[in-house]
Amino acid sequence: MRILLADDEKSIAVTLGDELKKLGHQVTWSPDGQKACHAIDVQTFDCVITDVRMPKADGMSVLQYARQRQPEAEVILITAFGNIEAAVAAVKAGAFDFIQKPFLNEDLIERVKKIEVLLDLKRENRRLKERLDELDGATRLVGSSRAMAQVLERVRTVARSEAAVLVQGPSGTGKELVADAIHQMSPRRAGPLVKMSCSAVPETLIEDELFGHVRGAFTDARADKAGRFEQAHRGTIFIDDIDDLAPSVQVKLLRVLQEGQVQRIGDTRVIEVDVRLVAATKRDLWGLCQQGAFREDLYFRLNVVKIELPALSERVEDVPLLVHHFIRKHGGGVEYTVDAETMLALQGYGWPGNVRELENAVERAIALAAEDRKLTRENLLAPVPMAGTSLAPVGPLAPLSEVIAQAEMQQVQRVLKHTGGNRKEAAALLGVSVKWLWERMKRYGIED
Ligand SMILES: Nc1ncnc2c1ncn2[C@@H]1O[C@H](COP(=O)(O)OP(=O)(O)OP(=O)(O)O)[C@@H](O)[C@H]1O
Ligand SMILES: [Mg+2]
Repeated sequence: MRILLADDEKSIAVTLGDELKKLGHQVTWSPDGQKACHAIDVQTFDCVITDVRMPKADGMSVLQYARQRQPEAEVILITAFGNIEAAVAAVKAGAFDFIQKPFLNEDLIERVKKIEVLLDLKRENRRLKERLDELDGATRLVGSSRAMAQVLERVRTVARSEAAVLVQGPSGTGKELVADAIHQMSPRRAGPLVKMSCSAVPETLIEDELFGHVRGAFTDARADKAGRFEQAHRGTIFIDDIDDLAPSVQVKLLRVLQEGQVQRIGDTRVIEVDVRLVAATKRDLWGLCQQGAFREDLYFRLNVVKIELPALSERVEDVPLLVHHFIRKHGGGVEYTVDAETMLALQGYGWPGNVRELENAVERAIALAAEDRKLTRENLLAPVPMAGTSLAPVGPLAPLSEVIAQAEMQQVQRVLKHTGGNRKEAAALLGVSVKWLWERMKRYGIED
């Protein structure tokens, strides 16, 4: 252990110090309270042994200083014989123990050994806690299929590294959950996890979101603003729908990743950022590169490690496990059941909305479940009800554009109803962008 020994009596310090060193401890000696406090400022200690009566600052001050500056360090006070008040006060102020003068070195060493045991326990405890955090991050990702086992294995290994990760997969397959797990299981877990979606922020604002601005950079910039990268310092940034990133911002993002520095809009200074990047996309990003829609150099920066999430229909073995997981998640402690036949039907359904759709289905079936607490096939796989339409029915000779418009409107209404008004989910089910959906909703006067 690293021990600070504060005592003005040099003879005590020398003999005790030698014995402690023989036991393998590193010992720093301070002849007065002030020097002891200074040592606490500049060095890390596991244990502080301090005399109460010392010049400049007494042992109680050293104790308080140590508790404040290095709460992990345990303190033993050496008190004068018979001074019980001082001993009680020391323990009350957080000392590990006290010893009265005169004392045998063995007695003091006994106490130091106890601290060593305590320290080991604390370390072990911390290690176990970290392991639990790790497991927690991973256990939220449910799946026993080969594909999911591989994903989990990758998440585990990559979490420990600093590598950029690209998570690719259709809507609702758990990309965000993977990002959460990576952050949770990484050494950065105590730092922030900052998320942003390129499809949810208009193109003109993305740069501002990512990098921030200084006051006066543009008309509306009334105050300095830190971007997401700065917010994510010492943590992880999750950039969703990265394929939606405008080319001009792609260049800037690449620079940030290469240099580890951001520049706020309108600023000349650069700010160092230590950020780990996880990006997600529903599209084939490499394909987009080949079409010239995404920068190759950025692709290689993002794609140091790729984690691909297959559609749920390609891993139907996971369906039963997920169903039970969602029953636990949404069932409020009640045991709902699903019979074998229904489970088979669930495995046979195509799940265009993937795991998210399955989760919604289970939630809905729980809400509709009867007294017998069975989740029925009808409630799980409810046909989406037809929405009313405000357009006049189109006649047989109507122009094609009108027929298409009506079909579009009906389908948009249906799907929005199905997702409970969730536009992002609806857009994913429809296979269109959120922007497209929003436009059509405005055009047809659909409210969610
Ligand atoms: N393997 C899984 N285990 C447990 N829950 C999951 C799993 N995969 C997805 N989910 C759940 O499904 C929902 C959708 O997951 P998530 O938001 O991570 O998907 P996504 O791929 O980011 O979707 P999108 O592309 O639409 O943004 C979440 O509620 C998530 O908790
Ligand atoms: Mg997502």
